[in-house]
Amino acid sequence: MSKALAGAVAIGAVILALGWGAGSVSAQDSAAVVKDRQATMKAQGAAMGGVKKYLDGAVDQAAGTKSAEELVSISESLAGKFPKGSGNAEVPTSNAKPEIWTENDKFVAAQKTFIDQAQKLVVAVKSGDKTAASAQYAATGKDACGACHSTFRLPLK
Ligand code: HEC
Repeated sequence: MSKALAGAVAIGAVILALGWGAGSVSAQDSAAVVKDRQATMKAQGAAMGGVKKYLDGAVDQAAGTKSAEELVSISESLAGKFPKGSGNAEVPTSNAKPEIWTENDKFVAAQKTFIDQAQKLVVAVKSGDKTAASAQYAATGKDACGACHSTFRLPLK
């Protein structure tokens, strides 16, 4: 099984385990889910920042690789962080748009793109070719983070 396919299967298993799309969570749980999700997103920002530091020469390649690998693990955890009933419609502090649940297939695809892009970033950083790593860093930011945010996230307040 390819790595990408294995990732997709793993996400599918998580979705099934959570009953994603079918069940919903209590108001108290939703608020906790949103807090955890926003902290996770911030950690993604920090992981991207770690790769940027490597590109800028502030840290070595090993540290850059570690940040990119962290991004992969976080990207793989996102599938479990969007239970139904935890969006902006239910939790005002959330910036998660209803489209996450009404166009769920597209959202799942955006998560898959993110995992692929994060894995490519690990490969690019490991290659030691900073030009390639810079290009992949930009692609990950645009095609993974940016693409999902433009469709599924409200403007941050
Ligand atoms: C599959 C969709 C998706 C991907 C991919 C994604 N995000 Fe997000 N992001 C969201 C959503 C939805 C929210 C709003 C969450 C909420 O407020 O409940 C968010 C919120 C955020 C926030 C604000 C957190 C806060 O404290 O309010 C940051 C920062 C962020 N994302 C960074 C990133 C970075 C960096 C990447 C890429 C490395 C990324 N995100 C990839 C969907 C995504």
